[in-house]
Amino acid sequence: MKIAAVQFCPIFGEVEANKAKIENYCTSIEADIIVFPELAFTGYDFLNKEEVRKYAVDFKSDLIQHFQNISTKTDKIFVIGFAESDTDKLYNSAAILCPNSNYSDVYRKVHLFYKERFCFDQTDKGYFVIDYKEKNLKLGTLICYDWRFPEATRTVAIKGADVVVCPSNLVTKVWHISTPSRALENKVYFVVANRIGTENRNGVDLEFNGGSAIYSYNGSAMQIAAKDGEEVIISEIFPEETRKKSFNEINDIFADRRPELYM
Ligand code: ACM
Repeated sequence: MKIAAVQFCPIFGEVEANKAKIENYCTSIEADIIVFPELAFTGYDFLNKEEVRKYAVDFKSDLIQHFQNISTKTDKIFVIGFAESDTDKLYNSAAILCPNSNYSDVYRKVHLFYKERFCFDQTDKGYFVIDYKEKNLKLGTLICYDWRFPEATRTVAIKGADVVVCPSNLVTKVWHISTPSRALENKVYFVVANRIGTENRNGVDLEFNGGSAIYSYNGSAMQIAAKDGEEVIISEIFPEETRKKSFNEINDIFADRRPELYM
């Protein structure tokens, strides 16, 4: 099975242009799972909830269902960050679109970064894993700043994830220090699709740092993209190899946990 992370520059507010670019990647990349950045249809730096509401769409909207149809036609899984509206709520979400739509779902970012809390609502939905039996794949999703909380990766790993994907709009570079550890300590693949480019809203520049990455379950980097430049990184992965959590005849990284002694 192959997994791809797409690093590109969504243009703020240009939904049609961003959609066309994403669609082109969805149809042209030869991979079973294709991960896009956070808020890939709209851009990132919203000023307030009123502005998000102009762009936010429902998971059942034509926009998301269009990509659901492409997923089914091409037999590829897509994970795409988008601004989601659900009745009166607004979420920073990722659509996880599976060829068999019964597995498709939406993840809502749990840890809102910086001024996102003025633009999006907090979710109580939490972490889940898609157990895609026909593909022998257990897929967990985080979004961007979630990387900073080891509990997030641990939770999807304990729920059975083999592969953790993380659509991102990262503005720092320090995450490269910790994400390989998340992969190693949970024995999961960890895949970050980060965006590039600079957004200028109200005269303030926000620069994104690329460096999209695919880490193997032993923490080693399989692919790292450049800091800038549009790029697709692709690796072959073997999800079932992550499931045996022992590393010698006595120790098992999950069975050895002592949660009664943790905060
Ligand atoms: C981030 O969570 N977009 C840094």
